[in-house]
Amino acid sequence: NVLILDFGSQYTQLIARRVRELNIYSEIKPYDKVPEDLSIFKAVILSGSPISVRGENTLHPDLSKIKGKIPLLGVCYGAQYLAHFNGGRVEESNTREYGRANLASIKNNELFFEGIQAGSQVWMSHSDTIKELPTNAVQLASTADVENAAYRIEGEETYAIQFHPEVYHSKDGTKLLENFLVKIAGLKQDWTPDAFVETTVQELKDEIGNEKVILGLSGGVDSTVAAVLLNKAIGKHLQCIFVNNGLLRKNEFKNVLKQYEGMGLNVKGVDASARFLKALAGESDPEGKRKIIGKSFIEVFDDESHKIEDAKWLGQGTIYPDRIESVSASGGPSAVIKSHHNVGGLPDYMKLKIVEPLKMLFKDEVRRVGASLGIDAELLGRHPFPGPGLGIRILGDITAEKVAILQEVDHIFVSGLKEHGLYDAVWQAGAMLLPVNSVGVMGDERTYEKCVALRAVESTDGMTADWVNLPYEFLQKISNEIINKVKGVNRVVYDISSKPPATIEWE
Ligand code: XMP
Repeated sequence: NVLILDFGSQYTQLIARRVRELNIYSEIKPYDKVPEDLSIFKAVILSGSPISVRGENTLHPDLSKIKGKIPLLGVCYGAQYLAHFNGGRVEESNTREYGRANLASIKNNELFFEGIQAGSQVWMSHSDTIKELPTNAVQLASTADVENAAYRIEGEETYAIQFHPEVYHSKDGTKLLENFLVKIAGLKQDWTPDAFVETTVQELKDEIGNEKVILGLSGGVDSTVAAVLLNKAIGKHLQCIFVNNGLLRKNEFKNVLKQYEGMGLNVKGVDASARFLKALAGESDPEGKRKIIGKSFIEVFDDESHKIEDAKWLGQGTIYPDRIESVSASGGPSAVIKSHHNVGGLPDYMKLKIVEPLKMLFKDEVRRVGASLGIDAELLGRHPFPGPGLGIRILGDITAEKVAILQEVDHIFVSGLKEHGLYDAVWQAGAMLLPVNSVGVMGDERTYEKCVALRAVESTDGMTADWVNLPYEFLQKISNEIINKVKGVNRVVYDISSKPPATIEWE
């Protein structure tokens, strides 16, 4: 295992991902929560930070159990930390040290820089600089602006670099991490999706034994992969519930249910459309709608799970980014944990134990584990779809008729993306039904009908997003098809807002 201590850098998660791409398992902990038991960690990496080592409120954890005892790599702030608190000197730099730079005078007779040539491009992002190295340090590289770009400490396996190897612009960053982790720390590159499946299935067997687990499936990637893993571990002791809230995509309930059955999962499909629509009648406030949908889901799930005797566990598809304790951007000690209980707070009396087989994986790793489990590539490549479904894409109040209109529009748009080979290039796409009627003309008739907005975005995590520049010919074709085929719609617009300041969903 590799331990990554987070000092609040925007790049900390990237370090974890780069390490895992080398098939080496890594975990992130806040800088002030160094685990008591360090025996499982064969290497430690200190992240960057928005804070200066020179400030009064600097982050200064006790690393005496780590430094000199476990192979250690300081990145950016980490490198300055190792200098400043060990006899070196860090000062504010007087040249701009942000962006691309090239390594010069590399000591590539050292294992650390093996296979990396002078001139290699690296990414710098810092405002302090190391003026004097710490005691017993040997300089390993410099750049035109940064004298001490890399160093190590004599007699220890402690290394430090001012640049960011985790950022794509550091061309040999992965090679450097590999040199440190494999050649210096002696880690094995054996953390693969297959190995993950094997160990997780065994752990689930040991943990759950003969007890029963219930799990709510959504048709999405995370809950599906979680279910398939649990199914492999405990088979028929897993009971999945897939609720139709009446706000799914066209034919989604039927198709996904069929797909799940083909995968050998024990799934009960519950069609609660009428119940949801009744509860939603007349509500047009976005938050009000979300609350009603969430509450109705819990009621339905609760009813269904009571029909399953002796269920002891609730399975969830929670993934790592939902759980990482983040060091706040100010670098202050106030760590926040996002609580992501996808089923949205079950009633206390259910008292189920929680099992989350994907809780240590990033989204792309979930997809790779899914592939290793033999799950269909089409299912694994699905766009994200919000829990409240079309309910937050119908602006204003929701009726069965509006749902039917939007399902048709969404179906034409999304199948069009697939047919034109655009689906995989888009992170998320869908249509919004606007609470606006406008005048049109069809044949000789005046129409006064609904307007729909199409939305397609590029993103990595949904936190920020850009609208996608879809080809005009494609938009033209889809617009024609929607207006010709969907009764009640006479106008189509395309949303060209990015997030921020807009959001992906309109509600
Ligand atoms: P926004 O609209 O906030 O959406 O830019 C970001 C991502 O989150 C999804 N989303 C939701 N997912 N329940 C969900 O499960 C919700 O209430 C919800 N609201 C937004 C949205 O589809 C996008 O992927």
